[in-house]
Amino acid sequence: MKLSKELVLQAKATFGTPTYLYDEAVLRSSFNELRDALPDCVDIFYALKVNPNLSLVKLIRSYGGNTEVCSLGELEIALKAGVAPQDIIFLGPYKKPEEHRRALEVGVYAIVVESETELRALSALAGSLGCTAPVAIRINPNFSASGSPWKMGGRPTHFGIEEDTAVANFGQYLALPNLHIKGIHVYNGTKILDAQSVYDNASYILDLYRNLTLRYDLDLSMVDVGGGLGIKYYENEKELDTRQLKQLLAPLFDSFHRQFPRTRIIVESGRFVAGKCGALLVTVDNIKHNHGKTFAVTDGGTNCHGAAAGSGQVLKRNFRIVHATGSNGAPLREYHISGPLCSPDDLLGRDVRIETLSEGDLLAVTASGAYGPTASPTLFHSHGHPAEVIVSHGRLFLARARQTALEIRDSHADVALDDMLAAPASAPVASSAPGVTASGATQAQLIEILRVVLKLPASTEVRADSHLRDHLGLDSLTSMELLVSLEDEIEGFFVNPDTIAPGHFNTVTTLAQYIDANRQNAPETASQGQPEVQYEPV
Ligand SMILES: Cc1ncc(COP(=O)(O)O)c(C=O)c1O
Repeated sequence: MKLSKELVLQAKATFGTPTYLYDEAVLRSSFNELRDALPDCVDIFYALKVNPNLSLVKLIRSYGGNTEVCSLGELEIALKAGVAPQDIIFLGPYKKPEEHRRALEVGVYAIVVESETELRALSALAGSLGCTAPVAIRINPNFSASGSPWKMGGRPTHFGIEEDTAVANFGQYLALPNLHIKGIHVYNGTKILDAQSVYDNASYILDLYRNLTLRYDLDLSMVDVGGGLGIKYYENEKELDTRQLKQLLAPLFDSFHRQFPRTRIIVESGRFVAGKCGALLVTVDNIKHNHGKTFAVTDGGTNCHGAAAGSGQVLKRNFRIVHATGSNGAPLREYHISGPLCSPDDLLGRDVRIETLSEGDLLAVTASGAYGPTASPTLFHSHGHPAEVIVSHGRLFLARARQTALEIRDSHADVALDDMLAAPASAPVASSAPGVTASGATQAQLIEILRVVLKLPASTEVRADSHLRDHLGLDSLTSMELLVSLEDEIEGFFVNPDTIAPGHFNTVTTLAQYIDANRQNAPETASQGQPEVQYEPV
């Protein structure tokens, strides 16, 4: 994304900061790049969770995109953007009855059902409404997308019905009244930058569809192979090679299409379509030195852009942050770029090398069109939602106004003080948190794996309290390697990206406790006492 200095200054003067800028030309070219990488028999469904901005969805619709929605809010946005109900699918591991009802009422293409309970509830609801519900069964397969650092399938998650159960019970699903089971849906993971992984994933799902239709002699009409295509965020990453993707996917989908000409093939994409078109524009308010570091304090931080701040991620890596008005030719210096929050973690970038900053400078956090405000605690400090602006043909369009202080204030119910104080107080329930102990067996196994991954000589003593970073030399790269080895070697253990936190990597004991707490059939005591980390879907 390249915006002229004039446009950036105009955006600042007109809308202030922090503001997201979305460049229509880049959005269009990303969509077209994906369109071109897929054969014509494949339909692209844009995932609104990534960026539900109404004007952006309208643009994507105009390029030929369909939509995938996960809530009533997203459904209403898609409809308002002019997306035909037959080009909408509705999914999510929990849906409210009113969401099912509205999806049926407007006639979406498919409700992606994620559990047998949901299937029965939908069957009953459709019966009571006197209609037939269009359904795709979301399957959590016995296969995980190797190139995805953030896996939703192929491991224990709350998504979908596990493959063996779904395959065994598919006949029962078909027998449920008031449902039209159109096909299957699988979404295995996000941020995939390797074309071969995308291919392997799609190929597995198409085979699953083939096997199901053969086994039950079915005439299904929809297969959703997910997607999860990534974009480059960090220095050491390479863009997804869409030419290679095209070479791999064309024969795969074309031959499937020849075999099942009436089946709608769906690829879902959010990050790839919307990621590159966006930048978060922030203003440097003050620069200060603090205990050996230089901080550039800006008006937008984690509250606007949790993904760039690495919220909830063990490995915090910097998004590319640049001078929004172009190079100033000054020497490079290193800064921690922070936001306005009273949290030491409120850093958009750590040790960022950038041309010398001055107070008042405008910075752009690039590749920020996906998982921006939606994946950020915008109400922290009651700062509210940042403004969002579409840039098209040299013009700026306010696509979402900044939330004002009074709007935030007035979103609270103003309960009368007398009423609250008159209510009977209930005594808080005392709770005692038992100490957490890791099992000796896990600790011993962990020590063996640590020795291999960190190539520790036999003379290095590894004890329960050995510090993984300071004593044993664990770093960002070896942490990833370690997690992969632990998943491979320790039966039933899977890393849970929602709960893993830097604190788990302190000592052998803290990591062993985490392992125990995240093993299937883990002992009761081991699952207690997990430090909470924020959910961060990027
Ligand atoms: C079911 C589903 N579809 C689509 C997406 C969007 O994925 P991406 O942004 O990787 O394209 C997600 C992301 O979590 C998802 O869970």
